[in-house]
Parts: sequence; C-alpha cells; structure tokens
Amino acid sequence: MSGERYVYGFDEPTEGGRELLGGKGIGLAEMTQLGVPVPAGFTITTDACRAYMASGGDLPDGLEAQVDEHLIRLQEVSGKRFGDPDDPLLVSVRSGAAVSMPGMMDTILNLGLNDEAAEGLARRTDNPKFARDSYRRLIQMYGEVVEGIEGHRFEDALAKYADDLPAVIEAYKQIYQEETGRSFPQDAKEQLGRAVRAVFDSWNTPRAKAYRRYNDIPDDLGTAVNVVQMVFGNKGEQSGTGVAFTRDPSTGEAGLYGEFLADAQGEDVVAGIRTPEPLERMHDRLPEAYDEFLDTMRRLEEHYRDMQDIEFTVEDGRLYLLQTRSAKRTAAAALKCVVDMVDERLISREEAVARIDPAQLDQLLHPRIDPSSTYEAVATGLNASPGAASGAIVFEADTAEDRAKEGEAVILVRWETTPDDIHGMIAAQGILTAHGGMTSHAAVVARGMGKPCVAGCDALSLDLEERTASLNGTTLKEGDTITID
Ligand SMILES: Nc1ncnc2c1ncn2[C@@H]1O[C@H](COP(=O)(O)OP(=O)(O)OP(=O)(O)O)[C@@H](O)[C@H]1O
Ligand SMILES: [Mg+2]
Repeated sequence: MSGERYVYGFDEPTEGGRELLGGKGIGLAEMTQLGVPVPAGFTITTDACRAYMASGGDLPDGLEAQVDEHLIRLQEVSGKRFGDPDDPLLVSVRSGAAVSMPGMMDTILNLGLNDEAAEGLARRTDNPKFARDSYRRLIQMYGEVVEGIEGHRFEDALAKYADDLPAVIEAYKQIYQEETGRSFPQDAKEQLGRAVRAVFDSWNTPRAKAYRRYNDIPDDLGTAVNVVQMVFGNKGEQSGTGVAFTRDPSTGEAGLYGEFLADAQGEDVVAGIRTPEPLERMHDRLPEAYDEFLDTMRRLEEHYRDMQDIEFTVEDGRLYLLQTRSAKRTAAAALKCVVDMVDERLISREEAVARIDPAQLDQLLHPRIDPSSTYEAVATGLNASPGAASGAIVFEADTAEDRAKEGEAVILVRWETTPDDIHGMIAAQGILTAHGGMTSHAAVVARGMGKPCVAGCDALSLDLEERTASLNGTTLKEGDTITID
C-alpha cells in the first residue's frame, strides 16, 4: 500500500492507540486481542476524518481503496458477500472519537440491505420478521443520519403500521423518496460510502459541538469510523441486547449492574424506547451466554483495571461484545471503586489517589433534601444521578436554555431525552424523565455532568399541547416549581 494508512482491522496492530483509532476502535481491537468474542471489522482512523474535514469534505487519497481491501477481508472471514442478494454481509458504521462523547455522534446499523437482500436474508434465516425489521431499521437510521430526515416521520409510520412490516418498509421508502427526491439506495457500496461521510460529518452537529464546549474538548480532533459485522439481537427470544456496568455507577458497589432487552437491537436500549429488564433476568433466558458474559466482564475489569461500561448482543444464544469503555460514574462511586480496587489488589494505593478527580469530589457535596425533614414525594423514579435540585418545570431544551439565560433555575421534564436535548440538560438544574432506565440517554449524560436526574418516573405523564405534567393525579403547569432528589 502506498501513501498514508487510514484503515486497520480489529486484529491488526497499530502504534496509534486511542488517538488514532478512537475509544470504540481501540476497545474493539483490544477485546479482539484478548480473545473476547467481538464481531469482525475495521476502523477508519481519526487521521482520515481530519483530512476529510481539512479538505472541506473530500475523502483522502487511498481511503476508498483501503476500505475495499478491508471489506474483502471481512467477506473472507464472514463467508458472506457485501451486497449479496441471497446471504448478504451486513455491517454497522459507528462513530467513535478518542474522547468519550456518549451518544453524541451517529451510528447506522444493518447497512448492506436492500429490497432483494432483505428477502434473501428472510429466506436464508427462515425468519422474515427479523429480516424486514432489520431493513426498516436501516432505512430509518440511514434516512435520519445520512439525509437528515426527521425521526418522527418514521416513528409515526411505525406506529401506524406496527407489525405489518412490509407496509412499514413501503411507507419508509415513500418517506425517503418524498424527503430526498431519490429512492432508497439499493447499492451496498454506495450506502457504505455515504454512511462513512455522514459519520465524519456527525463530529460537527450542533449537539456534538455543544457537548465539546461544555467538556472543554477541542473541535479539531475528529472521529474514527468503525465498520463492524452485524450480530443480531432481534432474531427472536434466544437473542437480545444489553448494557452493563462492572460495578454500580451510582454507588460503586461491586455486583451485577445492567439491563437486557430480548429480541431487540442495541439502539432500542440506549434510546429508552422499550424499558429493559434487569440483567439478572438474562440468566433465565440465556444461561450459557449469561455465564460467559459474567466471565467476560471480570476479564475486562482485570485487563483495564477499571470499572467498565459494556455493550453486548446475544444472537441465537451466542454472546458478542460490541463496546467497552471506562464507565462514567458519580464521585461517590469513583471513591468507593478505587478503595475497593486497592483491597482487591487491582490497583495500588498511589494509583488510587491519582485517579480521584478533584473536580469530581465537588459532587460529593451535592445538595440533598435534608434527611431529617419530613416530606412526601409525589412520585418516584430511578435515582439515575444523585443530588437534589429545585426549579421551574420546562418541557423543552430550548425553553430550558432561554429561561436559564434569564437567571431562572429550571428542571427539564421530558418523556425521554435525546442527544438533541444536550443544551437544555446543560442549562437545567436537574432532569426528570418519564421513561427509560439507568442506561437511558438522560441517565448517562446527567451522571457524566454530575447533575441530579430522576429517570423512568412511571407516574409522570406529559401533555405537551396543554403544556402540563401530571404526577399521580397532581397536574402541574410549565413554570411551576418542583424538587427532585
Ligand atoms: N455490528 C453490530 N451488531 C449489533 N449491534 C451493534 C453493532 N454495532 C453497533 N451495535 C449497537 O448499536 C448501538 C449503537 O452503536 P454505537 O455504540 O456505535 O453508538 P451509541 O452507543 O449510540 O453511542 P456511543 O458512541 O456513545 O457508543 C449500540 O447499542 C451497539 O451495541
Ligand atoms: Mg455505544
């Protein structure tokens, strides 16, 4: 190969480390090295992204050829062909910067499907529901990420046709056509090329920029792009997907801490669309994959000598790891964790002290409602991020930002937050959501920010037209004051 090298297989060594491969890429490469089950794939480097940005949107010379070479290798390893109408190789195209920016950039799953290949996959797996569900997800994610189509257009169509997947797919293709003036691309290589560019571009979305400003992350680092062979959690009851922490990210307690969703793809858990089950339930459904997962979590903690935040998927009973990263945690958890890890002889005392971030200690001094006072909570949810906060109810991120600018304390109240709400979360004193678990967007981002967050408050319902919230029969208007703890 001549010129600069921009692509590395997960099984190929590099000196470049996290800066070059991004956090997700280096994690996938290290897990592959460790012999942890990871789907095959390759990483397009942050160098490639920086070259792309510097040129104003041209892929650097040699990148396309290197991607082709690695696709050929992936076909050899998987025994499937990209774009094959009978037994297609499908991939995800995933962002992943060197610095952690949870959920801020874009990912597309099930890439490589088209009309014919979806039917081929249905025949091949004898599972038309799975094949069509995968295809409709691709059209939706590709439509949103590559073409910027509003997600609600797809959500509305999905709600309308529900389980009639052929009708959903037709409606999705129609939406795509209306919004772009073109039909959904049937060529797998075209899908891949445009997805890679879109993921590079997702470095510069307003939400990613807002997140970087808030966290003092430089704007010129760029993201790597990971192309990962798809494994399917949406193949039925012997499949599923989950997220787990190797310790409790709120308290630091050792023990099992995660969520699992049967017959689903990863984005369902993160997006908080369906509320997942506690990880322990996976034991009853998929005992072997469960045991292997516990063992793998232990190995990853030993390797990284730190609390990990892990994404995994089970396809027909077989376990695959899709991501591992150092877990975002509260200050209390950080302290508990290093103390325990010294006891467990995972790290030294000196290392323990060095790991405590002075800025995070501030969190320990978070206000809480006076424990000796008596009060009655109108409703309860999950303690997604500790601390108490009071403020005026606002229902939108923009309103939160506007009112906070006027000096008002606000609590952002939403059904669920999405990455587009980031500026509102930054502006708010605290966050309350009706839906989603401990790994939902609101929970993860609030913990990272050290902001109080109560998530998955089932008793909360919102009427966004009337601009009211109802909590166990108490109706509150926008602007009314609430307290969360
Ligand atoms: N090849 C794959 N097979 C199955 N699931 C996948 C694959 N690639 C990604 N996923 C799942 O899709 C979801 C989105 O992926 P990804 O990790 O790229 O983005 P994210 O979790 O939304 O954000 P972040 O950048 O913070 O990780 C995750 O749940 C992930 O586990
Ligand atoms: Mg992820």
